[in-house]
Amino acid sequence: MSQFLDAKTALEHLRTYQSRDGLSAAELMSSTKHGGLTYNDFLLLPGHIDFPASVVSTESRITRNVVLKTPFMSSPMDTVTETAMAVNMALLGGIGVIHHNQTPEEQAAMVRAVKRHENGFITDPVVLGPTGTVADVLDIKARLGFCGIPITETGALGAKLLGIVTSRDIQFHDPSTPLGDIMTTDLVTAPAGVTLLEANALLRTCKKGKLPIVDDKFRLISLLARSDLLKNQNFPLSSKSPVSKQLYAAAAIGTRDSDRERLKVLVGAGLDIVNVDSSQGNSIYQLEMIKWIKATYPHLEVVAGNVVTREQAAMLIHAGADAIRVGMGSGSICITQEVMAVGRPQATAVHQVAEFASKFGVPVIADGGISNVGHVVKALAMGASAVMMGGLLAGTEEAPGEYFYHEGKRVKAYRGMGSIEAMEQRSVGAKGPPKAAAASKANGVVAVAEKGNAATARYFSETSNVKVAQGVSGDVQDKGSIHKFLPYLHTGLQHSLQDAGQRSVVDLQAGVRSGEVRFELRTASAQVEGGVHGLNSYTKRLFA
Ligand code: IMP
Repeated sequence: MSQFLDAKTALEHLRTYQSRDGLSAAELMSSTKHGGLTYNDFLLLPGHIDFPASVVSTESRITRNVVLKTPFMSSPMDTVTETAMAVNMALLGGIGVIHHNQTPEEQAAMVRAVKRHENGFITDPVVLGPTGTVADVLDIKARLGFCGIPITETGALGAKLLGIVTSRDIQFHDPSTPLGDIMTTDLVTAPAGVTLLEANALLRTCKKGKLPIVDDKFRLISLLARSDLLKNQNFPLSSKSPVSKQLYAAAAIGTRDSDRERLKVLVGAGLDIVNVDSSQGNSIYQLEMIKWIKATYPHLEVVAGNVVTREQAAMLIHAGADAIRVGMGSGSICITQEVMAVGRPQATAVHQVAEFASKFGVPVIADGGISNVGHVVKALAMGASAVMMGGLLAGTEEAPGEYFYHEGKRVKAYRGMGSIEAMEQRSVGAKGPPKAAAASKANGVVAVAEKGNAATARYFSETSNVKVAQGVSGDVQDKGSIHKFLPYLHTGLQHSLQDAGQRSVVDLQAGVRSGEVRFELRTASAQVEGGVHGLNSYTKRLFA
């Protein structure tokens, strides 16, 4: 007789087996007794695959009332999220949080640009009058990125439409030329009440770039853009408000009194989600700010943070937070743990806070320390509903700032908002990151920044006589466009969930809670084994 059990009984044998392979999330967390875990300290064990990766749903609720098709967010940092990042993150299914190291007006212009983008009818188009000049159009192009502008009698929406200027009309003209002299008057328009479908069909056949919608007195009501038509077709995952069909806009503010004024301007620009941005969120300033926002703007979603403990989270949830941003010291540019000796390893922080916050239906955003697709999956497995990325998205075409060369590599500046350079950034007249902190360092030049009057109050140190840095300033390599990079993260996430046998983020988190999804700790040598090793040299191309 065989010494082995019959192979046909393997599954049955497994069912009667006392303990399951690997660890549950709770066991994983308690496995180090009193230590905290980072994403690199563990792995998910594989599950059973009976579906293709392409059907895996990455949809996730990132605040109490906002659901996105992908769980990706970009950080409110001045080297990460301005208009281009916010618009394109939203088009690709995530969301970008516009930073507040700039004046309220500059920040509001970015929010407005996001809300105006690809929204079927543009109900609040930029309009000029016939006495406006080519210089005005060039200024709009520089600030907002477009120059197809309707011209009305008074220069306002609701007035009689006279013409339209496009990039071709202004070409070769002196900046002082009045728009009335050069605008196109051969217009194709659609009447008020036209459906989006009809207007789109008209735009397709007339071959114009813009279709003004006018009332019976030829007054301008709204505008439809050909470029939006194309985007509508190309971005099935885009993050839009189900009511207005506009892209979601998110922006950060601080916790000072002046931030209430800032928020008013941002709300006026159409803000959907506000992130009360602080490195240590459990402060009386933040709690009062959250309560004030919820009382003043009940429909605004409030992301509060940052926190890393249940106790901190409880305070924010009690104050009315709609989502909790988790992370202290895990960011790639961060020296908080080193200097302040305060913080928490990120996987533990996310797990502890998410487990607690989930009891109240408050989603958690895992912020910082995401440097590959695996980290995204682990953050979600620890209970996060979204990941917020700074360094991983800095260096893309859509990040603010220009590329430059550093030691032969094409790079962009990336700096912590608690770096001396960012804290001293003067926003008025010096918008965006300086050419490159890293470049000036490399040249042996100390980056001189004027003392700012709109510096963020994220680190409680911006207005002190002695500024204590919690971040560094550096550069990251060119990553190309997020139009390639985000789909890579998305597809990578789908494949990872497939490996884990989970059809969706929701299933993954349910599986973690029930103990069905299993984990394994990684020793130091397991981490070496899990990386590339033993090669003389290699090329690491992440996607194609
Ligand atoms: P990364 O994705 O690892 O680069 O981390 C980005 C996150 O680091 C941001 O979303 C912030 O929460 C955090 N952060 C930004 N600036 C600083 C800083 O100067 N010190 C510490 N943390 C920072």
